[in-house]
Amino acid sequence: MSSAFDRGLLTTYLRPQLRRAVLLAVLLLAGIALQLANPLIARSFIDGAQAGRPSAQLLRLAAMFTTVALATQVATIAETYVAVDLGWRATNALRVDLTRRVLELDYSFHTAHNPGELVERVDGDVSAIAGFFSRFVVHVLGNAVFLLGVVAVLLTVDWRIGALMAAFAAVALVVMSRAGGFVGRRSRLARVAAGSLSGFLEERLGGLADLKACGADAYALGELHQHMDARYATTRSSVLAASSFSASVSMLFVAGTGAALVLGAALARSGAVTVGTVFAVVRYTTMLRYPLEQLSRQMNSLQQAAGGIVRVRELLDTERQIVDGPGATLPSGPLSFEIDSVTFAYGKKPVLRDVSLRVEAGEVVGVLGRTGSGKTTITRLLFRLHDVGAGAVRIGGVDVRSARLDELRSRVGLVTQDVQLFEGTVRDNLALFDRRVPDERLLAVLSELGLDEWLGRLSEGLDTILGSGGAGLSAGEGQLVALARVFLADPGIVVLDEASSRLDPATERLLDRAVTRLLDGRTGVVIAHRIPTVDRADRVVVLEGGRVVESGSRADLAADPGSRFAGLRRLGLTGALA
Ligand SMILES: Nc1ncnc2c1ncn2[C@@H]1O[C@H](COP(=O)(O)OP(=O)(O)OP(=O)(O)O)[C@@H](O)[C@H]1O
Ligand SMILES: [Mg+2]
Repeated sequence: MSSAFDRGLLTTYLRPQLRRAVLLAVLLLAGIALQLANPLIARSFIDGAQAGRPSAQLLRLAAMFTTVALATQVATIAETYVAVDLGWRATNALRVDLTRRVLELDYSFHTAHNPGELVERVDGDVSAIAGFFSRFVVHVLGNAVFLLGVVAVLLTVDWRIGALMAAFAAVALVVMSRAGGFVGRRSRLARVAAGSLSGFLEERLGGLADLKACGADAYALGELHQHMDARYATTRSSVLAASSFSASVSMLFVAGTGAALVLGAALARSGAVTVGTVFAVVRYTTMLRYPLEQLSRQMNSLQQAAGGIVRVRELLDTERQIVDGPGATLPSGPLSFEIDSVTFAYGKKPVLRDVSLRVEAGEVVGVLGRTGSGKTTITRLLFRLHDVGAGAVRIGGVDVRSARLDELRSRVGLVTQDVQLFEGTVRDNLALFDRRVPDERLLAVLSELGLDEWLGRLSEGLDTILGSGGAGLSAGEGQLVALARVFLADPGIVVLDEASSRLDPATERLLDRAVTRLLDGRTGVVIAHRIPTVDRADRVVVLEGGRVVESGSRADLAADPGSRFAGLRRLGLTGALA
């Protein structure tokens, strides 16, 4: 916990909000002072009434009491507003920094951390920290000051009463934070059970088609019962614990108020204090309940926020491995590339072993190989999503490690095996939310690629919403969008990792046309699962187990009866290499 505070996460994000923080402190102290004042006004009223003071004086006291009560409420509302505002302003900046860091981090980081986990960091933990700002200041500090204030006022009223209340508050705080910890643990268990039930439902509903296809509904229902049992048991125990807690606290305060009354009555009888003072003391005792309850509760949330701060700090401190090179510039136009004796492993198991491949500018090379042979991995190295273990990848004669990443990636266009469509219009999906790209350019690209008819079939043209809830696209149509995206970026090398799913003949024709246009005047790497795609290649490379096992012109390989490529062609299978 301390390390997070040492590194100044809080000060970094709080400093720009200093004025709000000061305002909050002022409001908080004002609210506390007003709250402490009111029982004393009531005391004067009661004592004044007993002593037969004039009505005008009593009325003034009553008006003062009401005004102070009203002002207390106003201060509380203002204080809550400023606290929440402060918490969110400070942590929004943190959210932005975290999101930027997550976006920057290497591909390998993202394969090791699932999106849910990162959402939890960027939103869950940060919300806990936002709560920490408001809760810590308002509840913990505010209530602690209030508690001390009550004890101080009571000590000035009568030291015996002050001492009794100080002792009562100390005992109550210890008992309540112990019990509060127990209640907190129960409610955490209930939350975990609720989370696993909703996770279960999400996954099962997401996989409904497969589940039904396998006739596994009954099994899924059985599992649902288990999850609901767990949720029921933990929720029941959590609710029970919470209500026992508040019942016990009520009893504790009945005892405390009783003690205050007994002591007050004795002191009033001996003439040491007035009846008004006894009233004020009883009022203060009941006023202790809220801050004590908050203090005992907030200890748990503080621990959670501290955990969040440590995790957020860790993420902010995560450095990327793949960083910009010194900035060697790549030549313009189509780019040659060379994979030079490259060895690469994701973990320990080597995926590429001593792979060498040279492709001239403007040449199109087809890469074939059975599933898992390392085809997609090669595309990731060209895009520098990973760095090679040994050897080098050069593009246009420049080692990819010496170019700037944005330059490199703007010159290499990548169409991945499973294209990601974003929730947005066709326009957004083509230009990747870049509003500066005019519609005319998008339409020109689509028409160049022969996709204007396809666009015409969409209900609202460029404004058609894609993604969940919008128009669904087939795998092939997704690839069409991705091709247009790459065409728009006008790269020197196009890497096409073809989807292995079967396409309908019409989409297939569209794709072929678009690919031909895209590869025209560019260097191409096509990872092919279909004959027409391979036919476009000047040269074919066959990968197996991370090694290049065959390489040559398409015509030569097809003519050589011993070639695997020729065999596959005869079977009409290129992707399987079975
Ligand atoms: N992100 C990753 N982390 C760890 N291992 C990986 C990762 N991606 C791929 N691999 C492993 O690397 C090997 C090669 O995978 P790759 O995706 O390059 O195969 P592929 O030839 O593209 O297969 P397919 O034809 O099915 O697309 C496989 O054994 C795979 O399990
Ligand atoms: Mg692949």
